[in-house]
Amino acid sequence: MQEDLERVLFDEATILHRLDEIAAQISADYKDRDLTVIAVLNGSLIFMADLLRRIPLPLKLDCLSVASYHGGTMTTGEVVFKQVSLPDVAGRHILILDDILDSGTTLAAIAEKLRAVRPLSVKICVLLRKKKMRLRQVEADYVGFDIEDEFVVGYGLDYQEHYRNLPCVGVLRKELVDRA
Ligand code: IMP
Ligand code: MG
Repeated sequence: MQEDLERVLFDEATILHRLDEIAAQISADYKDRDLTVIAVLNGSLIFMADLLRRIPLPLKLDCLSVASYHGGTMTTGEVVFKQVSLPDVAGRHILILDDILDSGTTLAAIAEKLRAVRPLSVKICVLLRKKKMRLRQVEADYVGFDIEDEFVVGYGLDYQEHYRNLPCVGVLRKELVDRA
């Protein structure tokens, strides 16, 4: 798999070091608050597992399954919620975890849906944030790394469901990406 990468952006040690920093920030911010983490499947799975084990707070965890991609590398703009019922978030502070803030379509739709059920607050944490114009206005409150507008895989991020288990984040070789 590693040979399919044009270059590695963040190796495992670099990612885990950054997670230590974000986890410390989140732990301080949510001390004495009822925190529910909502992980967006499948991309945030690896990030979520490593991050949450660094947060020594009594939190609850739920997952949301959505799809805004249909196999290619461009967003379709439409967000489909595959999970029928939303988690019970009334009276709790919500932290949404996702792999990457790209066009903003997914996170804007999720944040909107969750705000509608009136949690005490909604914040967003992403491993990666692409430097680009977004289709939807959405800000991440915690960001692992800012990256250029390139298609990346690994550490949870996929290309057609492959590469999620790569321990690093890297740019996929252009000839392997079908941009149609
Ligand atoms: P959005 O365009 O911000 O709605 O991003 C939707 C989803 O597209 C993300 O949660 C990722 O799963 C996926 N995605 C966006 N950019 C990349 C990338 O560079 N590599 C792999 N997946 C990506
Ligand atoms: Mg994906």
